Amino acid sequence: MKKTNEKNLTGVKDKTPRLYEIQHREIAKRAAAEGFVLLKNNGILPLKKGEKIALYGAGAAKTVKGGIGSGDVNERASVSILQGMKNAGFHIANEQWSIDFENAYEKARLEWRDRIHDRVERHGSARFFEIYTQDPFVCPTGEINIPPCSCEIAIFVLSRNAGEGMDRKDVKGDYYLSEDEEVLLRNICKQHHSVIVAINSGGIIDLGFADKYENICALLYIVQPGMEGGSAFADVVSGNVTPSGKLTDTWALNYKDYPNADTFSYKSGSVHKEYYEEGIFVGYRYFDSFDIKARYPFGYGLSYTEFEISATKIEIADNQIEITVNVKNTGMAFSGKEVVQVYTSCPQGEIIKEYRRLSAFGKTQNLAPGEEENLVLRFGWYDLASFSEEKSAWFLERGDYIIWVGSSIAGSRIAGVISLDEEKILSKTQAVCPLAETLEEHKFNQELLLNKRLRLEEEIKHLGIIKETVSAGRIKAFEIDYDKSEFFSPEVEALSNKLTLDECVKMVVGDPEKSHQEVIGDSGGSVPGSAASTSDVGIKYGIPSIVTADGTAGLRLQKEYEVVDGEVVRLDFMSSVEGGLFAPGKKNSGEIYYQYCTAFPVATLVAQSWDTALIHEIGAAIGREMSIFGITLWLAPGLNIHRNPLCGRNYEYYSEDPLVSGVVAAEITKGVQSIGGVGTTIKHLACNNQEDNRSGSDSVVSERTLRELYLKGFEIAVKTAQPMSVMTSYNLINGVHTANSYDLCTSVLRHEWGFGGFVMSDWETTKPLPEGFAECSVPYLCISAGNDLIMPGTFNDMDNIRRALSDGSLSQKNLLNSVKRIVRSALSTKKQQNG
Ligand code: BGC
Repeated sequence: MKKTNEKNLTGVKDKTPRLYEIQHREIAKRAAAEGFVLLKNNGILPLKKGEKIALYGAGAAKTVKGGIGSGDVNERASVSILQGMKNAGFHIANEQWSIDFENAYEKARLEWRDRIHDRVERHGSARFFEIYTQDPFVCPTGEINIPPCSCEIAIFVLSRNAGEGMDRKDVKGDYYLSEDEEVLLRNICKQHHSVIVAINSGGIIDLGFADKYENICALLYIVQPGMEGGSAFADVVSGNVTPSGKLTDTWALNYKDYPNADTFSYKSGSVHKEYYEEGIFVGYRYFDSFDIKARYPFGYGLSYTEFEISATKIEIADNQIEITVNVKNTGMAFSGKEVVQVYTSCPQGEIIKEYRRLSAFGKTQNLAPGEEENLVLRFGWYDLASFSEEKSAWFLERGDYIIWVGSSIAGSRIAGVISLDEEKILSKTQAVCPLAETLEEHKFNQELLLNKRLRLEEEIKHLGIIKETVSAGRIKAFEIDYDKSEFFSPEVEALSNKLTLDECVKMVVGDPEKSHQEVIGDSGGSVPGSAASTSDVGIKYGIPSIVTADGTAGLRLQKEYEVVDGEVVRLDFMSSVEGGLFAPGKKNSGEIYYQYCTAFPVATLVAQSWDTALIHEIGAAIGREMSIFGITLWLAPGLNIHRNPLCGRNYEYYSEDPLVSGVVAAEITKGVQSIGGVGTTIKHLACNNQEDNRSGSDSVVSERTLRELYLKGFEIAVKTAQPMSVMTSYNLINGVHTANSYDLCTSVLRHEWGFGGFVMSDWETTKPLPEGFAECSVPYLCISAGNDLIMPGTFNDMDNIRRALSDGSLSQKNLLNSVKRIVRSALSTKKQQNG
């Protein structure tokens, strides 16, 4: 085997923390604190500095920093809440509880590891991921019979973990407290005067327990806060940082209140078809429209201080509406930041719409008591458009557009009304992803919604609000050219033309020679722990291969690897998850190289900060780490919609709302790509909203819902940030695998949105599924659809493409176009690869 040139090894031999680690930890800590959402506080928070507290719950000593699966990040070390509180000078009255818990935890971890190893041995390492995700680690609860404690205040950290490959369950121990947790919480509430509950979960859980015990004085949603979660927690509870996060999802009173509660994923009794019967009424669009009381509404979050928010000016330009909002910290004691949200009620006319939709948002600087700031928030007419399947167009209905401004959907107030004199067609589209069977979307209580709208119009009259009338003629429409030819630079053309036909085939099929063909990643690429790379067949012509890495909350690389006799000891995918828990025990006697990556807070928490500047900063930090480790393409961010709280991967995604999802993904992308020569892969296009049978489930969804909800975030991210790549999803949409969908990969992505990068498949989408499940994606159809790259690729994929070329089902032109798109991106990474 060829020896590795030391110069090409990523990572370092010296274990001392490097400057980037120190700097990025600080960003991770700030981001966590900014994204925590204070759900309830009767005044107990902030605590006095140095206060004596009792600390319970699995997440106290073992705070869950992030979810499982490819979104995991292997960091140097994380700060737990226990550690963070001690570092901040709090006195922990019952540390023994956590010491005992840690012992039980370590024992349970090792038992779990051995069980997984055992099963992998029996079924083969190719099935590791399936085995690992279907049997996730169940954390012990700790001692539930707690000894008497004189301490007044207790903090209970309730943790949950979930991830790729399996959806969550609305059962005890997952969506609900387990029986042991119930007992523990009851005992804590008996022993302590005031109880603070921190929710350390990647997704929504039932908070009914908070109604049961009066002495639960505060609830803080810390999601999964990354490696500095414990320090951020101490910052917030001590009042060093005033909480300013806001929910990006609606927290229902009961799981049953979600519109698809009984049919989501396995709940319907079948994981093969997923009928999107709720249509556009997902999240607040449902709760707000039909007056379903939420426990905590979308956009909600408390602060230690108070703000006064007033819209001072609305200006209408031809294609843009601009709102100036004054925010004043009216509190006396704490400085803080406020998130301003703008919602619009669009006219109800030809088609029924949600009562309100988020149209813009912004966050203030840290305002001292008495200090104020003017925020200018903008959105376009297109953001207010609806999609009509009948017209095959995005259009604006004639009537009143009522603008609301506030710090949550529930708390927003009418700020102005814009009246559109006539209907306006903004753009005509081709019909895409047609339904292959009938779908009856629920009407819910339409009458209630329409009456609500009528009452709102009455109120506007009553309040004497002056409407500003806009003539539809002033608003610019735009045309879509579905035949537009793509431009490639002469360099891209020339280099691509050098490849032989067979090299072209190799170029579009990952790199099966290097891949270990595991389900995720290959750990055998040039950077240990990275996911698969693109083919190196072009290297002799000066076309570098693209090196990809996962980890939606940072980079997932092996944190250490070994070099023996000049060769990297290759480990498989198993070694690159759970911080290396499944890596083989004793090493050889080689040299150890370290690659420590920063575990940022998970996507939902990042979004909950609503702070685009901070999000950009996180992106830039990830981009810098990519450049340090020789990764050129990040397999993130993920921006699927939180359609139901039980989706296993929700932690990797931002919100139930497409605007939040799109803006955050765009900002992360701009941050990463500001580094130069590195790029993002926004994923998974589209409707990857369930994990059970994720490769074979068919999302049956109307075109309107698809466009307004599930594609919208991707559209925003593509149009505003031009990510280097897009990853299609595993699932089918209306009977067609997304990787085989010309409508998605070409008509929508390139022609409608102007995407200029390349499209890749999710891992092994061309692998046949067991009998009784859907057909897998067809390799050559990926290429003709415009899904340019099959990852990580197999030799069968190549054969299939060769056959299709020879029998004429795939044209050479199509193949070459995919090659050119990959080459174009590969060349843009050259700057990094040349160092
Ligand atoms: C996941 C992707 C990930 C890929 C590569 C798949 O299982 O769905 O999100 O990027 O693996 O690791």
